[in-house]
Amino acid sequence: MAPNLAPVGGIALFLSLGFGLHLIYQLYQVMKQREKPHRQETTRTGQNKAKNVKLSAYEQRIDAHRVDPQAMQITWRDIAGLEEVINELMEKIIFPVQNRTLFRESRLLQPPKGVLLYGPPGCGKTLIAKATAKEAGFTFINLKPSTLTDKFYGESQKLTAAVFSLASKLAPTIIFIDEIDSFLRNRSSTDHEATAMMKAQFMTLWDGLETDHQCQVIIMGATNRPEDIDPAILRRMPTKIHIKLPNFEQRKQILRLILENEKVDPLINFSHIAGETEGFSGSDLKEICREAALLCVREIMDSDT
Ligand SMILES: Nc1ncnc2c1ncn2[C@@H]1O[C@H](COP(=O)(O)OP(=O)(O)O)[C@@H](O)[C@H]1O
Ligand SMILES: [Mg+2]
Repeated sequence: MAPNLAPVGGIALFLSLGFGLHLIYQLYQVMKQREKPHRQETTRTGQNKAKNVKLSAYEQRIDAHRVDPQAMQITWRDIAGLEEVINELMEKIIFPVQNRTLFRESRLLQPPKGVLLYGPPGCGKTLIAKATAKEAGFTFINLKPSTLTDKFYGESQKLTAAVFSLASKLAPTIIFIDEIDSFLRNRSSTDHEATAMMKAQFMTLWDGLETDHQCQVIIMGATNRPEDIDPAILRRMPTKIHIKLPNFEQRKQILRLILENEKVDPLINFSHIAGETEGFSGSDLKEICREAALLCVREIMDSDT
């Protein structure tokens, strides 16, 4: 008679089920173990090392666009011929922020919450913004419009809010928006609904800065086309600094600075070159110096062959 194998089968089934469950439990434990260091890591990276503040996931995304003043290279010394602009920035922004206890009582002497640098391209607007943050030791968030546009509904709003909350946490902060005309241009009926909402929210948060006198967050915009900026935005930037094409004296100073560390023929007459380059921007002047330097290389190469 064949032995009845049913109990054996039952036990085997029971064992394999038990084993299966055990395996699942083990896997779960392993996964939990793996998750732990991961969680620690996010809190670690979610912390701003310099100021030791905790950041939300959205703030971390914005934090990626923060430039460490220590790592920034540009100082006032790298800018020629714009002493007046530098003095104005020192007086209106850097000094009041750095000495805020002196000015705490005064509403009139609070630094503006918005500064616009405008003028033709290549004349030092971006240089000035970077040097301001560097010289003042402010946190510098380089905000690009693409940072705030997210295809998922509601994400743009959270990112926009994060810009302002991060800036306050790391204050004093300059939020720099280069080519602000492309970001906050004249509102039009053709605006995408999400874009219009983001702009409105941006302005509301900006107004929040205005009412909080202790908050040291400054929005600095740069543009070649101030006429394209929404008037509502222009109103929020009471300090407007025109950075024009350099005049004769300024061109001379820029040329001197560009050629400072180069081997230059002592016969070179800076006044003559400055006189010949009317209408040139700082970056045009840099370009002609580069061309001239390349000519030297070419001469050396030709004489070698
Ligand atoms: N006043 C200046 N002094 C020294 N270099 C300048 C000056 N203006 C412009 N440049 C040169 O031109 C480049 C472009 O300047 P940038 O600040 O980007 O111009 P903008 O932002 O006004 O378009 C700079 O990197 C620098 O090499
Ligand atoms: Mg620029």
